[in-house]
Amino acid sequence: MINETLSKALNDQLNYELYSSHVYLAIAAYCSGESLDGFANFFTVQAEEEKFHAMKIYKYLNDRGIRVTLSGMDTPNNEYSSVLDAYEHAYEHEQEVTRRIYHLSDLALNDREHATIQFLKWFIDEQVEEESMFDTIINKLKRIDKDSNAFFMMDAEFAARTFTPPAL
Ligand SMILES: [Fe+2]
Repeated sequence: MINETLSKALNDQLNYELYSSHVYLAIAAYCSGESLDGFANFFTVQAEEEKFHAMKIYKYLNDRGIRVTLSGMDTPNNEYSSVLDAYEHAYEHEQEVTRRIYHLSDLALNDREHATIQFLKWFIDEQVEEESMFDTIINKLKRIDKDSNAFFMMDAEFAARTFTPPAL
């Protein structure tokens, strides 16, 4: 049995994952506006991934007999000064997601809610991947700096990114 504080926090995280999807789609739109279709594709895929994360929590809450409720969301940032600025924003966003997942894990641990502790492990591993990915890309973008050839090669590389949702 999941207590009320924990179920509310999980439901909040479901909504925050949907908000994350919104944040990344807004970045994709910024990239499309700059005619950087590869970077736009990268963030469209990222937005899909976030929706998948939300659905993972949605299914878990349903499985545990908890009624899911959706909330409204803040307007994401739509304007960026550069692709690097967008990736730095995304990296900060992921760090906030990690803080939230850790908080959820603390709640589950305090309540000895073992099924939820187990469920959240997937998200903890995922956050390590997400943070590492954004950190690496930011470092590459900084190294590329004003080398436009390298920058457009990276854009081309990201055009190939796809997302195949695993089973929920
Ligand atoms: Fe996520």
